Amino acid sequence: MLSTPHLLGIKNIQKEDIELIFETASNFKEVINRPIKKVPSLRDVTIANVFFENSTRTRLSFELAEKRLSADVINFSSSSSSVKKGETLLDTVNNILAMKVDMIVMRHSSVGSPHFLSKRVKAQIVNAGDGTHEHPTQALLDGFSIREKLGEVGGKKIAIIGDILHSRVALSNIFALKKLGAEVMVCGPTTLIPKYIESLGVKVETDVRKALAWCDVANVLRIQLERQQIKYFPSLREYTLYFGINKKMLESLDKQIIIMHPGPINRGIELSSDVADSEHSIILDQVENGVAVRMAVLYLLAERGL
Ligand code: CP
Repeated sequence: MLSTPHLLGIKNIQKEDIELIFETASNFKEVINRPIKKVPSLRDVTIANVFFENSTRTRLSFELAEKRLSADVINFSSSSSSVKKGETLLDTVNNILAMKVDMIVMRHSSVGSPHFLSKRVKAQIVNAGDGTHEHPTQALLDGFSIREKLGEVGGKKIAIIGDILHSRVALSNIFALKKLGAEVMVCGPTTLIPKYIESLGVKVETDVRKALAWCDVANVLRIQLERQQIKYFPSLREYTLYFGINKKMLESLDKQIIIMHPGPINRGIELSSDVADSEHSIILDQVENGVAVRMAVLYLLAERGL
């Protein structure tokens, strides 16, 4: 059983929780590849997907995971809601819960908003991304995809490359990969690497060629211009010249490495199309695994209860 009634982040869950989620996700992956993809596990559970920020993969993946588990599902998008009329986050969620909802999957631009809610409402909360803080199900599906491709995560060398400063994927990945025994490096312009990062036990590199030569897996991140209030590098063209990954760079290595990306990709900036679509890339496997991993998270949380 999971050690926590909510999934707020990876920082405060146990290695055993991650292993249980992976084991359960493997079973669900087998289920969703059958002709009949649905199981009745969450038939009496109602889940609200409450998204205050844009999403393609995470929202659709949660919705599909919920439907594959036979849960009742409602979707909330802040852009078409009464938040526009001034309603608070807590009032919004309490009104949704008054409709007899059991679980809230939420994405919000404010760091800590799922933690805030988990202390104030009577429902299980799943963090689908809180600002620049954590994106726990992305880290779980990334770890699951590495394990599937390489057999295990422990002992593998993972380089996280790009805008580390604004990335919730980076932080959740660091927590998850370290708990699973991987070696982790972050790579990007010095201005986009937080000063505290070495205290998390990761290596820091500013030369992307050295990072690629070191790693077994490169998890490449998007430059999050929408979260940047100041300029962290002169231009996107210069970012691509120094940190963009292209096929020629991979061919110059004396080994095969795996390329990952949480999406959305900015093609031609952090990754060239001939890398994103190459045999090195497991980007769409990550998306496929996201459904099974989210099924596992929802199933195990419902089993545990509040
Ligand atoms: N990886 C990810 O969170 O993608 P979305 O923003 O499309 O959900």
